[in-house]
Amino acid sequence: MTIQWFPGHMAKARREITEKLKLIDVVFELVDARVPLASRNPMIDEITAGKPRLLLLNKADMADPEVTRLWVEYFQGKNLPVLVLNSKTGQGINKIEAAAKELVKEKFDKMKAKGIIKPRAVRALILGIPNVGKSTLINRMAGKNIAVTGDKPGVTKRQQWIKVGSSLELLDTPGILWPKFEDQSIGLKLAVTGAIKETLLDFSEIVLYALNYYKDHYPQRLQERYSLEDIPQEGIQLFDEIGKKRGCLMSGGYIDYEKTAEIVLRDIRAEKLGRLSYERPDQV
Ligand code: G4P
Repeated sequence: MTIQWFPGHMAKARREITEKLKLIDVVFELVDARVPLASRNPMIDEITAGKPRLLLLNKADMADPEVTRLWVEYFQGKNLPVLVLNSKTGQGINKIEAAAKELVKEKFDKMKAKGIIKPRAVRALILGIPNVGKSTLINRMAGKNIAVTGDKPGVTKRQQWIKVGSSLELLDTPGILWPKFEDQSIGLKLAVTGAIKETLLDFSEIVLYALNYYKDHYPQRLQERYSLEDIPQEGIQLFDEIGKKRGCLMSGGYIDYEKTAEIVLRDIRAEKLGRLSYERPDQV
């Protein structure tokens, strides 16, 4: 589902997040490891209003591991604690509880010393733009402990807490942030990684963007996948070459760009070009 973010929607999302923030100690900000900047809301600092935050680079199974390593260094260098996850298999999620405890330790210790709070679990909220994997992660973390919610007629659905380990409680509904299309490349990055599903951009535009990126960063993968001898200078020539190799021709010998784009996009989604990242810290 594509969510259109109109000012009214954003105001509502913000109100909902503000309400949830009152209940929690720490925010888990979920982003896509392949596009950790494009998949985050740049107003996150303001929105979370100083709550301690743990950045979770999700879908790391699809990202270039070397680039993910650079991102971890980058965020750590900005004093933002960060973990790398695959929410589908659960890889990495066992580190979340300890990281959350660490984030609130000083505050909790002080409050305990003053007798303000009794020892209790750390309460957390997952925040992120649509499709970064929030529900998948919540389900994974819930495991068998998934709360039974009052989804029956006449029962109001309230916020439920999911117990994770011995010292963490997670709100069962995430906070949904809106993506920020500050420039066209953000939309293209979100489209190529599947974060926005149907878009106003056509397939060819998305694929041309991806091919231009691979040409500069993953030329060998392109050569191998499409049996190309050389990588042309221009993305559009690359499109032509792949079209020819895959027999996507129309009458008159012209390249059928739409068909070529479909093939390449299918390959990207099926990870036929391997694990790819679309943003690198050295280009920030
Ligand atoms: P959301 O709540 O943030 O909107 O995202 P959601 O959990 O619905 O996840 C969006 C898509 O991303 C789902 O795929 C989900 O399976 C996939 N996903 C989530 N986390 C990971 C991850 O760490 N690795 C990989 N490879 N995929 C992940 P889908 O195609 O929409 O659904 P499905 O085919 O998995 O059912």
